[in-house]
Amino acid sequence: ARLVVLVSGAGTNLQALLDACRDPEYGAAVVAVGADRAGIEGLARAERAGVPTFVHALKDHETREDWDAALTATVASYEPDLVVLAGFMKLVGASYLSALGGRTVNTHPALSPSFPGMRGPQDALEYGVKVTGCTLFIVDDGVDSGAIVAQSAVPVEDDDSVESLHERIKVAERAMLVDTVGRMARDGWTVDGRRVRLGG
Ligand code: GRF
Repeated sequence: ARLVVLVSGAGTNLQALLDACRDPEYGAAVVAVGADRAGIEGLARAERAGVPTFVHALKDHETREDWDAALTATVASYEPDLVVLAGFMKLVGASYLSALGGRTVNTHPALSPSFPGMRGPQDALEYGVKVTGCTLFIVDDGVDSGAIVAQSAVPVEDDDSVESLHERIKVAERAMLVDTVGRMARDGWTVDGRRVRLGG
């Protein structure tokens, strides 16, 4: 299966997918990596792996719609079977969703529907939950609100900082992402309302 991965930062989730794709049994290849900004480690990881990269920065476009249309055209040009938003810090818009919705998954560092948005680990810590984790979901027009494909739970320790908690989440997140994306790539998936089933 052809994967396109979109990143905005360190790209450790991307790296986990790049590493997994080296195994021919995994059944997927990252055919391109895109970002909303240049000069990030995620793009460097793609370049080191010999994977084509592209950047669409919001500031380079008159409107958000223009940015969304440009991003959509580039992603679609790689004919992805599955698009993975791995630490991508922008909300995709209507033109993206009409072209690629239903085959785009996003990973969020909290147990949806709890703690959507940009501060999942911090919100979990501040709320005082004892268990949090990460969620892989099919992107829809909301914020971290799409149909859930997979989740993985981690404990919150009493002495956790936002950083230590997020790092613990990211260990589980990379494993969840590699396992689930591999199964989607090999066996497909079906979405029935809010229920996502792996396998054809
Ligand atoms: C991940 O935890 C992702 O869920 C969140 O930001 C982090 C990105 O990490 N949105 P990386 O760029 O994959 O290392």
